[in-house]
Amino acid sequence: MDFAIKSGSPEKYRGDCIVVGVFESRKLTEAARVLDEASQGYLAKIISHGDMDGRANTTLLLHGIPGIGSKRLLLVGLGKEKEFGEKIFLGAVRATFKALQQTNAKDAGLYLTDLSIKQRDIAWNVLQMVVLAEDSLYRFDRLKSKPEEHQPSLSKVNLCVTDKSAAAMAETAVQQGAAIARGMKVTRDLGNLAPNICTPTYLAEQAADMAKSYKLKFSVLENKEMEKLGMGALLAVARGSRQPAKLIVLEYHGGKATGKPVVLVGKGVTFDTGGISLKPAGELDEMKYDMSGAASVLGTLTAVAEMKLPLNVTVIIPATENMPGGNATKPGDVVTSLSGQTIEILNTDAEGRLILCDALTYAERYKPEVVVDVATLTGACVVALGHVVSGLMGNDENLVEELLQAGEQSGDRAWQLPLRDEYQELLKSNFADVANIGGRWGGAITAACFLSRFTKKYRWAHLDIAGTAWKSGKEKGSTGRPVPLLTQFLINHARKHTSS
Ligand code: BES
Ligand code: MN
Ligand code: ZN
Repeated sequence: MDFAIKSGSPEKYRGDCIVVGVFESRKLTEAARVLDEASQGYLAKIISHGDMDGRANTTLLLHGIPGIGSKRLLLVGLGKEKEFGEKIFLGAVRATFKALQQTNAKDAGLYLTDLSIKQRDIAWNVLQMVVLAEDSLYRFDRLKSKPEEHQPSLSKVNLCVTDKSAAAMAETAVQQGAAIARGMKVTRDLGNLAPNICTPTYLAEQAADMAKSYKLKFSVLENKEMEKLGMGALLAVARGSRQPAKLIVLEYHGGKATGKPVVLVGKGVTFDTGGISLKPAGELDEMKYDMSGAASVLGTLTAVAEMKLPLNVTVIIPATENMPGGNATKPGDVVTSLSGQTIEILNTDAEGRLILCDALTYAERYKPEVVVDVATLTGACVVALGHVVSGLMGNDENLVEELLQAGEQSGDRAWQLPLRDEYQELLKSNFADVANIGGRWGGAITAACFLSRFTKKYRWAHLDIAGTAWKSGKEKGSTGRPVPLLTQFLINHARKHTSS
């Protein structure tokens, strides 16, 4: 999809379709009013028939309006003017692209760009519109034998502003939006891919391809090297699988050579059966999404590289399957992690923290500025927060605050859970330094407590995306979250560090 910022009067838009908003009940936005005038009241007359009263999420497509340059006109409901805000705006943009795709229009001029939203600016509107446009086009059909019959014709979106001075700011927002959308697509494609194809080896190949396209430094640790280093926790998870585990590292150098990198660690369990602590059969296919943390850090790195952000970012992905088998780790096994701490594995289904703890220790050698890990870590996080916000914890309040802020800015929100010392006791083991589970209660927190024992040497935060990385049911599929949050965090980070 192509995007452009256009300024100019709406009646002069000469294209396939122009899009303007209408408030409830039947109150025209400024752009709609201009079109109404140009058509000598034609628009108001049609609206008075009552087919479009401005209710949120409604649209009405019109053809051949006299006095205006565009072939079609799409009216979009914006709800009550007093209640207009972020949520209604996003819904209206979604409804717009849905309606446009049912037409044969190849281009569209959206006069929704400078609708004013509390605490947001035009750049925000533009960025969200670009992301939603790409989102509306997203299909995952590469595993179908024939492509879908109906291919959308829309290929150019003009984001129209009436105020020329806003155009420069809007250009940056288009680029950022396009980069985030590109990153989300990478993440969703990897997540949606079948687990017989998306194996640890496949993830490593994809990372190597990314390294080629974006000139990144790529390296991968194989089994032997991990053994030599002493990654006993990661290897304990991989034991049951025929697929070899990989520890994948990608380095993006966009900042000063001496600049410490932001390290992103993503859980890459390409299929989680639970291991010997086998999961029940219901919806088990969804455990192919257990590599969504890995997919999201690869997506985020894609966005960073697309934007050429002036900072250094390193991505570390521990990748493995979690399978039962004759050689698999058993409940009660004690292993030694890369940090030297011994772990009693009481439940082989708490595998994410086992692969992450070795990756987090490994992160030390990159002398990180900060480390953020991203993982579909606990069902308990879904119980606590549902599918709306991601769980967030960390050992540095400023870092947590920056991430919360980036979530608020991008609309890809997180919520902090209390990583208090009292919870640490739940991880006591009679036979090793630490147990890998903390019992029934506060599961998202005890999981983070476990990780915190391996992140003492740097500022660290943890995002539990078990509830937000994918959707179940009829719309089953990867959401691409938390790429918007992480990318916004890095955009802010780059700005802070170049301006100071
Ligand atoms: N990958 C799962 C977490 C998960 C569960 C994500 C459901 C999304 C939906 C993780 O490896 C896991 O199995 N966690 C266990 C931990 C427990 C054994 C302490 C869980 O949440 O049940
Ligand atoms: Mn598990
Ligand atoms: Zn898992």
